[in-house]
Amino acid sequence: MKRAIYPGSFDPVTFGHLDVIRRASAMFDELIVSVLNNKAKTPLFSVEERVNILKEATKDLPNVTVESFSGLLIQYAEEKNVHIAVRGLRAITDFEYELQIAQTNRLLSKGKLDTIFLTTSLEYAYLSSSSVKEIAAFGGDISQCVPDFVADLIHEKLKG
Ligand code: PNS
Repeated sequence: MKRAIYPGSFDPVTFGHLDVIRRASAMFDELIVSVLNNKAKTPLFSVEERVNILKEATKDLPNVTVESFSGLLIQYAEEKNVHIAVRGLRAITDFEYELQIAQTNRLLSKGKLDTIFLTTSLEYAYLSSSSVKEIAAFGGDISQCVPDFVADLIHEKLKG
């Protein structure tokens, strides 16, 4: 059974992430979307909220499961006995950061965790969770960036 992990912050999930999830789910028997519980960051949504949002957004994809993890990706992947991480590459600006993480993970895991990259579909190439939050904070239209129910949740959060 071919399984892969798609790790990320997903704060919040965007159409770019969902595009990667949909395409990766067609390549593996099981895709585990894993939300990083990063204590160093102050997210808009809690880990539990992000997991629930992702579950709702991927409910039509039966081989996608959603979880959270803390600590190192290689430790989590080893616990799950998964050897492939999936990441999306938007533009060349992502490349250096992603290459560094992928190489470090391969080194630290002694070759047990490899990373594959899916190039983000062009219409989502400039989309990021941070820009979605910024656009929403200034009252801009995020309907092209995230599913409607996510847009509603973002607006609710920002209202405080
Ligand atoms: O969506 P993001 O914030 O770009 O995702 C980054 C993520 C979660 C893939 C990366 O920060 C990660 O895997 N963090 C877990 C800690 C870890 O394993 N660090 C070593 C890699 S250099």
